[in-house]
Amino acid sequence: VGGVRDLIGAGVRRLDGWCEPHFRLTRPLYVADPAAAAGAGVWSAQEWQRHRRAATAPFEAHADRCAGDAQYARYLVAIHEAKLRAVLALADTFDFGPYRRVLELGCGDMAQAFVLCGRLPGLAYTATDFDAGVIADCARLPLLAGIDKRVFDVTGPDLGLLDGHDLALSWSLEFSLDDAQLTRLFAACKAHAVPWLLCTHTGIGPLRFWLEAPRASRQRRYAREPGWRLHGWLRSAGQIATLAGAAGIALAWRARLANHTALLFEP
Ligand SMILES: C[S@@+](CC[C@H](N)C(=O)[O-])C[C@H]1O[C@@H](n2cnc3c(N)ncnc32)[C@H](O)[C@@H]1O
Repeated sequence: VGGVRDLIGAGVRRLDGWCEPHFRLTRPLYVADPAAAAGAGVWSAQEWQRHRRAATAPFEAHADRCAGDAQYARYLVAIHEAKLRAVLALADTFDFGPYRRVLELGCGDMAQAFVLCGRLPGLAYTATDFDAGVIADCARLPLLAGIDKRVFDVTGPDLGLLDGHDLALSWSLEFSLDDAQLTRLFAACKAHAVPWLLCTHTGIGPLRFWLEAPRASRQRRYAREPGWRLHGWLRSAGQIATLAGAAGIALAWRARLANHTALLFEP
């Protein structure tokens, strides 16, 4: 039964992947959070930090994935299927030739940055996140020494850090941004003439949108209930491209990479 369910799941994902660019779909996602007040917004930088430190356990039986290079390497092995296969596929598929200076936005614990820099050592790579804790944790690791690290909030007033970079890159960052914040970031990429390679595993296509409609209507109730928290927004590629279009930046390339979708937007 499990095998059949997996097969159907894979079929739905594949079909959805084909259809996604032609549909404009957005769905908010709520998660259980007993400490949350009703109507609380998406996680702050401190809440991301708290979550990241608590959520190491499912990957490995150690408390801190950034405790040392060995722990970090074990963590990378644990997330290979979920996150890193897509990065390796990107390195093989996407032509990084014109883009030497890469600025990653919302890098989290820099797993993708580490793999990409290993595959493409010529890149001058800056990894950023608004969670100062994860940037400090990663700065302790000799394995990540070659990566420039900065605290950077993409919803902050000054997006000038984009200047001097050839490419902005993100992995599921857009999930944490509402439509207005996402459109503003696209507009900043246009203003600074920086293409944005947006990679995500939080896309949603029409089949999943429809199949999960009952769960989504339950989730809409959570918006008004204490103990539930808005976590982010699932969007179809068509919806992301529409927001980019509103900011004057167009989809130039698209690929399916393992369980992720990559969308290149060019000013
Ligand atoms: C879904 S997680 C993805 C993390 C990482 N890219 C990955 O794929 O493992 C979203 C990331 O975006 C960061 N983030 C959320 N809002 C942000 C903001 N306004 N500015 C910068 N980073 C942000 C979070 O701290 C988190 O690391």
